[in-house]
Amino acid sequence: MRTRVSRGFDTSAPYDGAMSPDRRADRAVRPLDPDADRAGAARVIYASADYLTLVNGEPPNERDVAEFFTDVAPGRGVGEMLKLGIESADGRLVGVADVAPGYPGPDTWYIGLLLLEPSARGSGAGRRAFEWISTAARGQGARRILISVLEENVAALDFWRHLGFVVLQRLEPRRFRMRDHARYELEHRL
Ligand SMILES: CC(C)(COP(=O)(O)OP(=O)(O)OC[C@H]1O[C@@H](n2cnc3c(N)ncnc32)[C@H](O)[C@@H]1OP(=O)(O)O)[C@@H](O)C(=O)NCCC(=O)NCCS
Repeated sequence: MRTRVSRGFDTSAPYDGAMSPDRRADRAVRPLDPDADRAGAARVIYASADYLTLVNGEPPNERDVAEFFTDVAPGRGVGEMLKLGIESADGRLVGVADVAPGYPGPDTWYIGLLLLEPSARGSGAGRRAFEWISTAARGQGARRILISVLEENVAALDFWRHLGFVVLQRLEPRRFRMRDHARYELEHRL
């Protein structure tokens, strides 16, 4: 399978051991199957045109769906990434997340993406996804979670700060297809 390094994962450092998801955690957050869940993930991505357009300067397309499943952190294989789905109470996929366990070092998990479709926002699903990720990270011995957030994405910055993240640094602008974005890297100590 073709893989590409995601621009969501910013720090570059060697990998130090594979991690596996905590499958006992909340059923509403679960690892995705790239075949069986592809259509569900595509629905979430197409429904989230507001976010994808903010990032890329163009509406979502098949490339975004393909890249969600093939994006990797630098030096990682796709099998070392956690591609997660977030389900609504009725079992429908309403969100996706992309996480690099043990990146950039063994004490850190890096969230490359957390995306809920608009109708699923504002009712606790984002917090639930973060709690699933932090529980799994802690279970694997991680001490912190990192994320980078677009400077323009003020609502997301406020959301992560509300969950206890603090800004570590401002990352210089880089290209996302048709847009340039500065980002903030945020840290949550576990
Ligand atoms: C950002 C996002 C993941 C947040 O998920 P969500 O389900 O909307 O957020 P929740 O309802 O779980 O909110 C959790 C808590 O954060 C708070 N919160 C949410 N957005 C907030 C904001 N903009 N400012 C301050 N607090 C906020 C909520 O009040 C809630 O507080 P509580 O649990 O203490 O009562 C979601 O809105 C989303 O997918 N947005 C579009 C994509 C995006 O920007 N992703 C982030 C990329 S870095």
